[in-house]
Amino acid sequence: MDIISKEEIYNFLPENLKNKFNITVLEKTESTNLLLKNMALNGAEEGTVVVAGEQSAGIGRMGRSFFSPGNTGIYMSVLLKPQIKPEKSVFITTAAAVAVCRALEKNGVENAGIKWVNDIYIKDKKVCGILTQGNINPQSQEFDFAILGIGINVYKPENDFPDEIKNIAGAIFDKEKDNLRNKLVADILEEFNNIYKDFDNTSYVDEYINRSFIIGKKVDVISGSQVKEATVLGINNDCKLHIEYADGAQCFLDSGEISVKLL
Ligand code: BTN
Repeated sequence: MDIISKEEIYNFLPENLKNKFNITVLEKTESTNLLLKNMALNGAEEGTVVVAGEQSAGIGRMGRSFFSPGNTGIYMSVLLKPQIKPEKSVFITTAAAVAVCRALEKNGVENAGIKWVNDIYIKDKKVCGILTQGNINPQSQEFDFAILGIGINVYKPENDFPDEIKNIAGAIFDKEKDNLRNKLVADILEEFNNIYKDFDNTSYVDEYINRSFIIGKKVDVISGSQVKEATVLGINNDCKLHIEYADGAQCFLDSGEISVKLL
């Protein structure tokens, strides 16, 4: 049986982290990011976590939705009060991507790769999306808080993925394993904490780059309604994507309003 359970997640968390995270588990909610944002606005502390077995209106990047069916995925959000400038929020997303890859490896999945900036792929299929949403204090222009949201397709949904995402989305495991999703949630929290507790140390960015599979690949760079083909030359220490357009012009892309599609 693999049912998301608060008790089991705590069982898998190392002793020293049990007090660090305050985890709420729900069978279903609209969006764990949205719920946690409301909790943060009502005074919730850093380390508050919401995990749901299903979302009725999961939020993705760029105003997209995130397909979040019941019993097969992990939908989790973590409340952070980071001491970084809001323009550096990409570091939260990239730290989470590394944490998810490490957690998957701990559970026998060796072939996960990162597609800049927030997706994790296995065998050409997206199995995980990450969305960091910040609340910025209008006076100080610093983070009041940030919500780190992680959605993972652990198993294939009962009725498969909807047609619109069938070619892109994939699942990680073929067969259900006892308590796997609870263990994964705990492992992700542990690995994320390993990076976040020493967030000035950006050595994990090298790991992010090493785990990225789009370097050297051709992509479509999508900015609003504009689409332009480019080759990915690398990712720099600011987690910006270094690309070269067909005319030879090079630039470093910020994740903000841009997404890339593999060709
Ligand atoms: C993306 O791929 O565009 C990002 C998807 C992020 C989905 C997760 S699921 C948990 C959390 N709650 C949400 O509503 N969204 C994030």
